Amino acid sequence: MPVISFANAKGGAGKTTAALLLATELAHSGHRVTLIDADPQRWISQWAQMSGPLRNIEVISEVSLASLQCHLREMAAQTDYFIIDLAGARDALVTTAIGLSDHVMIPVQGSAMDAKGAAQILDLLAMMKDKANLDIAHSVVLTRVASMVTTKALVAIKGLLAARGVNVLNTPINERTAFKELFEVGGTLHTLDPAKVSNVDKARENASAFATEVMRLMPVRVVRSGLPRVFSFRRQAA
Ligand SMILES: Nc1ncnc2c1ncn2[C@@H]1O[C@H](COP(=O)(O)OP(=O)(O)OP(=O)(O)O)[C@@H](O)[C@H]1O
Ligand SMILES: [Mg+2]
Repeated sequence: MPVISFANAKGGAGKTTAALLLATELAHSGHRVTLIDADPQRWISQWAQMSGPLRNIEVISEVSLASLQCHLREMAAQTDYFIIDLAGARDALVTTAIGLSDHVMIPVQGSAMDAKGAAQILDLLAMMKDKANLDIAHSVVLTRVASMVTTKALVAIKGLLAARGVNVLNTPINERTAFKELFEVGGTLHTLDPAKVSNVDKARENASAFATEVMRLMPVRVVRSGLPRVFSFRRQAA
């Protein structure tokens, strides 16, 4: 069961929103998701309290450096995907969570400040590879992108990161009221009332495309003649 964490050393990059969209979409398509709230600001935990029990989603709050690994171990048998929401920092908990991840998603808004926060995580990943021989797959996901335009700045960020060998998801997360609304009313995009929130259908489409792309990045476990084999369908960076 893959562990996917969302990291960007700068606050407000869109980590929690992206983590929640991925978790709720995976759960909607029938996967069992354990959503780990490793941010002391507890946005995911508050969302969970508001939402009440949801099918296929288990939320773990009050996560510490000491307890993180225990949670992963304890929930492993009943989880298809672990999703970890991290604080906008580069502290010990963020570093440990990254070290335990199969894939690190780095949300980046089209602003220079975000790119700096993302660069700190990329440096951390490079250091882990260098010093600890820990090669953790990672991708940048562009967030809060206006739906109609692919601005020059975004194309530039994509080109820059691709030149550094960083995979950038083809699906950006759009700026949508519906995504904000989830934190106001709880639930998922599938429980939001389209009569009350604008463009819920487009928001669902976007979140679903994002989740599908992330799932395709994960290794697929195929069991044959009792021997587990792992095939990686990870796309190479352009
Ligand atoms: N795609 C989006 N569409 C609309 N609003 C968004 C989107 N992504 C994020 N936001 C809004 O931007 C703000 C910051 O987003 P979010 O909380 O997801 O960032 P974060 O990286 O988790 O922040 P922190 O570092 O503080 O944990 C929130 O108010 C959120 O509702
Ligand atoms: Mg957050």
